[in-house]
Amino acid sequence: MFFPKEVCILLYLSPLCWAIYDHYRLPTALLPLHYDLRILTHLNETHQSFEGSVKIELQVREKTQNITLHVKNLRVHEDHISVNENCIEKIEVNEEYDFYILHLCRELKVKNVYQLEMHFEANLNSSELGYYKSNYTDMDTKELHYLAITQFSPTFARQAFPCFDEPSWKSTFNITLGFHKNYSGLSNMPVLGCEDHENLEHYIWCHHAKLLRTSTYLVAYSVHDLQNAATIESGGVTFRNWMQPKFVNQEWFFVQMAPKVVAYFQELFRLSFPLDKIDQFMAPQHRFSAMENWGLITYNEIKFMFKPEDSWEEMGSSNALTLAHEYAHQWFGNMVTMEFWNDLWLKEGPSTYFGYLVLDVLDPTLARGERFIARDLANFFSKDSASSALAISKEVKGPSQILAQFSEYVYQKGSLTIRMLHKMLGDEAFFQGIRSYLGKNSFENVDQQDLWESLQEAAVENQIIPKNFSLSRAMDSWTLQSGYPLVTVIRDYQSRKISLNQTRFYLRADNENTSTCWWVPLSFVRQKLPDFEQTHPQSWLECPDSKKELELTDSANPNEWLILNPQVNTIFRVNYDDENWKLIIDCLNNDPKLGGIHKLNRAQLLDDLAALASVRIRNYTQLFDLLKYLRNEPELLPWQRASAVLKRIEALLEGQEANEFRIYMQQLFSPLYQRFPKLGGISRLPPSLNEVPMLRFVYTESCRYLVDDCNLQARILIRSTHRNGTVAKVSSNFRDVAYCSLLENGGATEFQELLALFQNAENAAQQRIWATALGCTPKFFLFQQFLNLTLQSEEKPISDCYILAVNEALKRKSLASETAKHVLTEAKTLSEKFKTKDLTSVLMTLAGNLRKPEELEELNKRLKDIQQFEEPLKKALELAKTNRQWQMECSSDFIQALRNNI
Ligand SMILES: *[C@@H]1O[C@H](CO)[C@@H](O)[C@H](O)[C@H]1NC(C)=O
Ligand SMILES: *[C@@H]1O[C@H](CO)[C@@H](O)[C@H](O)[C@H]1NC(C)=O
Ligand SMILES: *[C@@H]1O[C@H](CO)[C@@H](O)[C@H](O)[C@H]1NC(C)=O
Ligand SMILES: *[C@@H]1O[C@H](CO)[C@@H](O)[C@H](O)[C@H]1NC(C)=O
Ligand SMILES: *[C@@H]1O[C@H](CO)[C@@H](O)[C@H](O)[C@H]1NC(C)=O
Ligand SMILES: *[C@@H]1O[C@H](CO)[C@@H](O)[C@H](O)[C@H]1NC(C)=O
Ligand SMILES: *[C@@H]1O[C@H](CO)[C@@H](O)[C@H](O)[C@H]1NC(C)=O
Ligand SMILES: *[C@@H]1O[C@H](CO)[C@@H](O)[C@H](O)[C@H]1NC(C)=O
Ligand SMILES: [Zn+2]
Repeated sequence: MFFPKEVCILLYLSPLCWAIYDHYRLPTALLPLHYDLRILTHLNETHQSFEGSVKIELQVREKTQNITLHVKNLRVHEDHISVNENCIEKIEVNEEYDFYILHLCRELKVKNVYQLEMHFEANLNSSELGYYKSNYTDMDTKELHYLAITQFSPTFARQAFPCFDEPSWKSTFNITLGFHKNYSGLSNMPVLGCEDHENLEHYIWCHHAKLLRTSTYLVAYSVHDLQNAATIESGGVTFRNWMQPKFVNQEWFFVQMAPKVVAYFQELFRLSFPLDKIDQFMAPQHRFSAMENWGLITYNEIKFMFKPEDSWEEMGSSNALTLAHEYAHQWFGNMVTMEFWNDLWLKEGPSTYFGYLVLDVLDPTLARGERFIARDLANFFSKDSASSALAISKEVKGPSQILAQFSEYVYQKGSLTIRMLHKMLGDEAFFQGIRSYLGKNSFENVDQQDLWESLQEAAVENQIIPKNFSLSRAMDSWTLQSGYPLVTVIRDYQSRKISLNQTRFYLRADNENTSTCWWVPLSFVRQKLPDFEQTHPQSWLECPDSKKELELTDSANPNEWLILNPQVNTIFRVNYDDENWKLIIDCLNNDPKLGGIHKLNRAQLLDDLAALASVRIRNYTQLFDLLKYLRNEPELLPWQRASAVLKRIEALLEGQEANEFRIYMQQLFSPLYQRFPKLGGISRLPPSLNEVPMLRFVYTESCRYLVDDCNLQARILIRSTHRNGTVAKVSSNFRDVAYCSLLENGGATEFQELLALFQNAENAAQQRIWATALGCTPKFFLFQQFLNLTLQSEEKPISDCYILAVNEALKRKSLASETAKHVLTEAKTLSEKFKTKDLTSVLMTLAGNLRKPEELEELNKRLKDIQQFEEPLKKALELAKTNRQWQMECSSDFIQALRNNI
């Protein structure tokens, strides 16, 4: 089913929609049913190219005399195009939207099926998009090996063959690959059989089984000579693992993990994985971290392949998550696909969220999923307090806007949205709804309405929401607009009634937009019954009437606290009346069990109070009163959040105030530091993996604020393990922390030592670790050497290290201003070298430090004419303005409160 114009009206309610639609979406007169694709690949020192033919079966839905499809960067043999007995009158090309339009001699008749045949060729490109070439050097022979592999998502299939390159045009595919016998061919489906090429000696054609109805962005193939490290049969699926020969004899986590993840998802979704095989393919060059192509999942070798002793917990978690995420896509995205890229979140949100769930199921002690959720919450609350935030479901017009939609933001807010539904509906109704959504829409396309409908049905059936409640109206308020509400809760301690209202939360006051509102599910927890697992909504704050008075059946006594939004299941901030805040703060400070308040709520209370103080709804005296409870806080998540909100402010302080701030931080971290073993002994007594994140946090912060003997311990760790020339033994999880401290307190010798480690690092994972630590040096003349080196490098993994180190340096007072100058001077080079995402991260860190209006102007002046900086600059300027306002309106309140607490 495909009615894009109606979808368009539903989504945008704009008369403009028609006009815009006609520009960038394919016409809907023709329905592609099946592709017969033949690709002959040439791969030797002199030739890296392909030639192909495609036969597309087209069903006519409306009579038409032309055929529009996507083609980009292909040489099409125009005199070899055929459409049954018809002929081609004229060919038109629209470069903006990659349209290739065939005007036919005669009209195509409704309901008939025609066959369009086209022949084409192109060089394998080196842009890591479309059908591209990659290479590796054999360790033994030193020979260079080429391989060819695809990356079609989101809009690059059109660079490999003429096609209807939008996700809604699902078709079946018969793929036949031709190549020299020295190579192997892979595609989504297994090989049925091969035969000799009709005239090229030593070449063969291999036919792959027919692929089920699939969107073009998920089609994949490769011609390569990598080796299969392991074949695993599991649950009727054959897994193979392709990599460079030098890697095959080591153990790789993804070999064993993939079958487990597939088994878990099949069970959870009650829907079998529909293909017989999955190839996991480690591409030596890959544009992204990984790609979920059906049956042929590709990974970025640089990110995934490093020895266990080089790895550290953070990198391990992030790779495990990427794997879990790609497998969740086999259901969310591959089986059930969004109608168009405006609803990208419909595949990225669930895949991210279910990725977190599977991590915690496979390895509950590590609590990786939970940490990712806490990180996403922190990012979301920070990003969406700016007016530059965008809705996750939004119109995207051309290829570049489509690509830009693949932002961390869409993944993270998408995941938080799915989590909200899960918490709101509970396991039973949620999974029932998800299963029905997947089952009903398998091999079809959907928009967010389809998800809401399945969940609505399940929720009503399980009596979570009443029949007449519209989940779709409620959820649209979260996905079709950006930002989030601040809900104010005022208790009447006599009548025990609660009154609530909502307004959009901005960190900067001049953004007031009162008409915005959300459907906010309300669930309360009270002190005497601190059940933070009860996350079904007890009531709703509605939209557009944003006020409500409420009487809870189980209302709290005047002397107990009330907390809204257990587990921060929904993404909004809460402000309470004075008395309730006081009850919460007293309880956290006095009860060793912290009142049974959930750790995500503890983190959020800190975050909310800090945000409310910065817009003067609350004050910093209260924030510092709350922060006192941290001496009882055993968990990483609240500590991390507290540290993050305080450091945001640290960047804006100078001189005496900055000193006082450091004293406060020292006092804050000192008792925490003393709870843990000394860093110097960590190689002798390595902590278990689940303790690593907390320990990294404790040592990083303690060394940074010169707590106790932290820096001495860091030196001991490095010197004791470094003495006989082996570095590998510095416990891999802590060496960057220790080196950072060493550099921060050291001179040229230490810097050169680390720079040598960076330059001799065996792989990108190691390089990244050293690069981050290099950003800790306080001496710019040393740091500059590294900046020059990485910025000039043609090797992407090395130049990426520039971003890591610069971000670290910008967070440190000693280096921030000179590094910022360097960034501005080299802006043009940066804009050519790095992605918007990287530029944004650097610029946001940089803008977070600006204390003077002149600096802001300088930033604007230097970057405003560089197109790649347009988006990042907008966000950075907004942040800088917010900070400026904070300095004028809040800093004295903050300093006063700080002084009372040291
Ligand atoms: C490389 O491949 C091309 C195209 O198949 C062929 O014409 C050429 O002879 C090959 N070169 C070598 C050195 O094998
Ligand atoms: C055919 O061309 C007309 C006019 O150029 C255009 O409006 C229409 O969308 C095209 N139809 C197809 C199927 O390409
Ligand atoms: C091998 O791949 C790298 C990375 O894409 C590229 O820079 C280099 O030019 C390639 N080498 C050859 C000989 O094509
Ligand atoms: C596609 O391949 C299948 C075998 O997997 C074959 O049965 C079918 O006839 C092929 N379809 C076309 C249109 O060639
Ligand atoms: C919400 O309630 C609080 C407390 O009664 C009040 O100060 C605030 O102005 C109200 N906000 C809105 C948008 O009505
Ligand atoms: C901070 O807010 C609390 C609660 O509203 C109030 O009691 C206190 O006087 C305020 N302190 C300052 C310094 O403004
Ligand atoms: C270096 O470390 C290794 C492994 O711990 C040890 O066996 C060796 O004796 C050490 N060498 C020196 C010179 O201390
Ligand atoms: C780095 O490059 C800049 C500009 O090209 C130059 O002025 C500076 O001397 C270089 N610094 C080092 C340490 O190489
Ligand atoms: Zn994804």
